[in-house]
Amino acid sequence: MFPRGRLVFFVTCNIHKFNEARRVLAEYKVAVAMLKIKAVEIQDDKLESIAKAGATDAVKKCGLPVFVEDAGLFIEALNGFPGPYSSYVYRTIGTKGILKLMENVDKRDAYFQSAVAFSGPKETPKCFQGKAKGKISMEECGSSGFGFDPIFEPSGGHKRTFAEMTPIEKNEYSHRAEALRKFAKWYTSAR
Ligand code: IMP
Repeated sequence: MFPRGRLVFFVTCNIHKFNEARRVLAEYKVAVAMLKIKAVEIQDDKLESIAKAGATDAVKKCGLPVFVEDAGLFIEALNGFPGPYSSYVYRTIGTKGILKLMENVDKRDAYFQSAVAFSGPKETPKCFQGKAKGKISMEECGSSGFGFDPIFEPSGGHKRTFAEMTPIEKNEYSHRAEALRKFAKWYTSAR
């Protein structure tokens, strides 16, 4: 059972992100619905600014309590590339392109960062961040998840990529789960 008033809308078209969020928020008895509206996605170096702008725009369009999540993969040997441009890089060169850029690179440290921005009709956006440290694998491994999951091995994950984990396991290590847990703690204590 979910307590009254504990329903938020996740503005996303990504069913994988939604399923990850649904599981995390259920730990806090917060119900979440997927809202497929087109919220603005500004170009910015900071995930927080991108997520906050999206949440503000989504509230204007639907008048509901919403959150928007923006994530990126930051590779240390590439000076943080692709970072906030991960979506474009995924669509263009993809996981294979990243592995090619990392050919003959020994230092494979990388991290995922997530920014969850919540806003409501009478609220200014509030942002929560999460980070998952790990390494870029030598080859693609696994078939679950999405995006760069097949080439990212989170620290402590026994050299398995996110794509070799179940969604429940991924939520133990992921950037998104960490940001969502911070959001859920705030949301359930602030109201
Ligand atoms: P978005 O803008 O938050 O959708 O994320 C940008 C890109 O980063 C996406 O196109 C995905 O390819 C990638 N990405 C974001 N989060 C994850 C994740 O949890 N696993 C794998 N790739 C991700």
